[in-house]
Amino acid sequence: MKLLIDDAHMDSIKKLYKLYPIDGVTTNPTILAKSGRPPYEVLKEIRAFIGADADLHVQVLAMEAEGMVKDAHKIVKELGEATLVKIPCIPEGFQAMKQLTKEGIRTTGTAIYTAMQAYLAAKSGAEYAAPYVNRIDNMGYDGIQVTKEIQDIFENNGFRTSMLAASFKNAQQVLELCRYGIGAATVAPDVIESFVKNSAITAAVEEFVKDFEGLAGVGKTMSDC
Ligand code: E4P
Repeated sequence: MKLLIDDAHMDSIKKLYKLYPIDGVTTNPTILAKSGRPPYEVLKEIRAFIGADADLHVQVLAMEAEGMVKDAHKIVKELGEATLVKIPCIPEGFQAMKQLTKEGIRTTGTAIYTAMQAYLAAKSGAEYAAPYVNRIDNMGYDGIQVTKEIQDIFENNGFRTSMLAASFKNAQQVLELCRYGIGAATVAPDVIESFVKNSAITAAVEEFVKDFEGLAGVGKTMSDC
């Protein structure tokens, strides 16, 4: 399962890339608004940092197909052909996805709450489909179950579309989908950090250091022996 960062703050992106095996970055209009910076300024900085071929998902804003296609052209022109254009899975979105697929532009069907939206995105040529796990949970349904169902639909129908599960609030939700072997998950920085934030882990490592210092001296490591 690929692991992407769902955020647009450069300090968080740089920190997480340095520490962890990260595969790309996703944004949406809300995330861009939270960065407080002009959209293409921050997106170009992200693109330059992660590299020209890395996965960067950027969403269109237009609500009708023609405008979505226009937004997609601008996004790809500014951020490169490797960029995945996120298209909301609304009726006009499928029209735009079909058109962009014909043009060879990579798309991600987003704002997915039902398996049938994902099915239509796959048939329309989307490379990724992004179900919103936690938001589905918040509606009283089971976001993990919907995502697994979508994965089964893709496999059973021979679609090449991959999952890009999104909207996570905790590590358990990510773990469930990792176990199921979905294509990708995009996760907010605080949830990624929570994967290894555990007092038992810290205590175990601190105890190793303390024991070794008893043998070799305070502050000593394997390089000093
Ligand atoms: C990604 O495609 C979505 O825009 C995003 O993950 C939604 O996450 P949220 O529900 O935490 O806002």
